[in-house]
Amino acid sequence: MVKIVLDTAQDVAAQVAKIYVKQLKDKPDSVLGLATGSTPVALYGQLVKKYQAGEIDFSKARSFNLDEYYPMKADHPQSYHYFMKEHLFDKVNFASSSIPSGEAKDPKAECKRYDKEIEDAGGIDVMLLGIGHNGHVGFNEPAVTYSMGTGFVDLSDSSISANKRYFSADEVQPTKAITMGIGDIFRSRKIILIITGENKAKIAKKLFENQIHTDVPACFLLLHPDVTVYLDKDAASLI
Ligand code: GLP
Repeated sequence: MVKIVLDTAQDVAAQVAKIYVKQLKDKPDSVLGLATGSTPVALYGQLVKKYQAGEIDFSKARSFNLDEYYPMKADHPQSYHYFMKEHLFDKVNFASSSIPSGEAKDPKAECKRYDKEIEDAGGIDVMLLGIGHNGHVGFNEPAVTYSMGTGFVDLSDSSISANKRYFSADEVQPTKAITMGIGDIFRSRKIILIITGENKAKIAKKLFENQIHTDVPACFLLLHPDVTVYLDKDAASLI
């Protein structure tokens, strides 16, 4: 696992955006795994800017998002579908963009369908990840066992309370999600993990203890041959 510490979250976004420029130059039909949450927002802003400046072209690229709440309508302002449209998909030109459906009647069948779609696309070239305070990646929460493929999961209390800020008092906040599994993430050829902000310093420290804590899902990344973790100074302050 390679660690790169930059001054600010904006610096991280700018640096990671350059990797995507190179990736799409080298392989225009790349399959990109994408994440939601506040962490990648700055990166998506950079990618939009670069697209508008003609520096990057997504027209042959496909994307697969990590997760979606369940149940969740795609047009709900707190859905990850909505988030991705707002921050990226409505502003750049992906050939196709896929996200697990929070509206599927049979969520377990949706998990299988999603995995097949990823497999049919040839797997993920570059997987972008953020990390939860409890070490979750996608919505793979700390657990005794981890799903290899896309799974229909319960959110932890930690994730529910961390994401509470996005839901208004009269909205029912989902307690379940459909998420790519640890296996899906692990099969990605290259993984970029972004950790920014002082409130992620503790989990960043845990990750860099260089031990597999089985209750920290992101620790599985320590075993992957091509993971680069980009941190800002605040997130790296305890390492
Ligand atoms: C969310 C998402 C994750 C994300 C994480 C951290 O709930 N499911 O993919 O990485 O929690 O979010 P943030 O970047 O807002 O801290």
